[in-house]
Amino acid sequence: MDRKQNTNASQKSLWGGRFQGSIAESMLAFGASLPVDNRLWREDIQGSKAHAQMLGEQGIISSQDVDSIIAGLSSIEVDIEAENWDFYDLADEDIHMNIERELTRRIGEAGGRLHTGRSRNDQVATDMRLYCKRRINELASQINVLRAVLIQGAAESSLAGDEIIMPGYTHLQKAQPVLFAHHLMAWQWMLARDFKRFMAAYEAADVLPLGSAALAGTTYPIDECKVSQTLGFASLCQNSLDAVSDRDFLCDAVYAATMTMTHLSRICEEIILWSTEEFGFIRLDDAYSTGSSIMPQKKNPDFAELTRGKTGRVIGDLVTLLVVLKALPLAYNKDLQEDKENALDAFDTLEMCLDAVTGIIDTMQVNKEAMRKGAQGGFMAATDLADHLVSQGVSFREAHEVIGRIVLHCETTGCTLQDLSLSELMAFDARFGKDACEALDICTVVARRATYGGTAVSSVVRQIQRAEALLQADKEEIVALNKKGVGM
Ligand code: ARG
Repeated sequence: MDRKQNTNASQKSLWGGRFQGSIAESMLAFGASLPVDNRLWREDIQGSKAHAQMLGEQGIISSQDVDSIIAGLSSIEVDIEAENWDFYDLADEDIHMNIERELTRRIGEAGGRLHTGRSRNDQVATDMRLYCKRRINELASQINVLRAVLIQGAAESSLAGDEIIMPGYTHLQKAQPVLFAHHLMAWQWMLARDFKRFMAAYEAADVLPLGSAALAGTTYPIDECKVSQTLGFASLCQNSLDAVSDRDFLCDAVYAATMTMTHLSRICEEIILWSTEEFGFIRLDDAYSTGSSIMPQKKNPDFAELTRGKTGRVIGDLVTLLVVLKALPLAYNKDLQEDKENALDAFDTLEMCLDAVTGIIDTMQVNKEAMRKGAQGGFMAATDLADHLVSQGVSFREAHEVIGRIVLHCETTGCTLQDLSLSELMAFDARFGKDACEALDICTVVARRATYGGTAVSSVVRQIQRAEALLQADKEEIVALNKKGVGM
């Protein structure tokens, strides 16, 4: 063990009193969270101002001290905002201690009174909740932008008489024709659920832990309700031990991000497939595709692929967070410092991917003819031909069997169902009615599926109306949250 254990740290740490030696140089960087949590500066300053104001109102510190703390914090805020940040020191571990030290440097002794009745444990938890609420808000709004693009695309492509029909798939085998609008709306509903998941995560984050201090509460006559009001929290944490070690809200938000990424990944998979020469259903805009350095003909869906790829990374973020938490005893443990990097990464990644997918979808060109052509082949009307026989009094099982034989015949002779005449059909089963061939028309096939969530134009139009109403309500929910926001 010839490693130098102690170095002369440039300055005395904020817990310096109890220590004789100073921390090993290498441990400064190892233990610091500053490179990650410096992004919480805004929330840290908000939290500190609210805390200081309350300390003053409760007579715990003087109003002069409050004034100089608030002014000092504001001046720090201005400097950080202007990226004029020369007080960034790893020796002070995290953003919280960096700001506090700088405050004391600027305003003197009053700075040392800010931390009265507070611990970094409840301070960090508060900052993370504030930060999480802000990011949830931004991400949920971005989700709504993508939903609006999808709804608009669906409305434009489902105009009766000019509706775009495409093949619907199961097992990636052609199954039944659907409206392109119906497919876009399926994506939209996935995202509508993601929005709800983010709102649930917001609610989980909307509880104030400040006042819990290190783990057991504080002896000062603080007023948590006041702080909660100033910072725009809905309620207070019920138990101080739980409050400083609870990161469920973060898991909820990262899970919402993971689920959204999973949806984006599935959407991107289809975009990638549809843009192949084999499918040819869509053409990506130049702004959202790349070329190849060797093959001049290539137009690659890089950003859709990257979104699919980055989904793995966000799933990893969620797993990392859960594993950090899984064996932690109460209350605060330093392991909790590991909560930030992955959560922030999940939010950042989702933000970029939502932006990419929104642009891709908003600018892609749809090849109506290729979609319609695809919907015509592949025996997509087979179920409807069976349904026709059922309408003639045949049981569905028997009808299924008859149509199965007809499909086999078509396959061996290289024709489609639409190529068969009524008499050819009747050679398989005399019970086919006069209008059997009409059942094979893909417009009819689509129009007959007029159930609540079905693909008929009439159903899809109502579906779009319901989605528009929900999106409007969801947007208003965000506006209401913003109004409740931090009140200082
Ligand atoms: N940097 C720490 C974190 O982010 C701050 C909390 C430290 N508290 C403590 N008792 N060491 O988790």
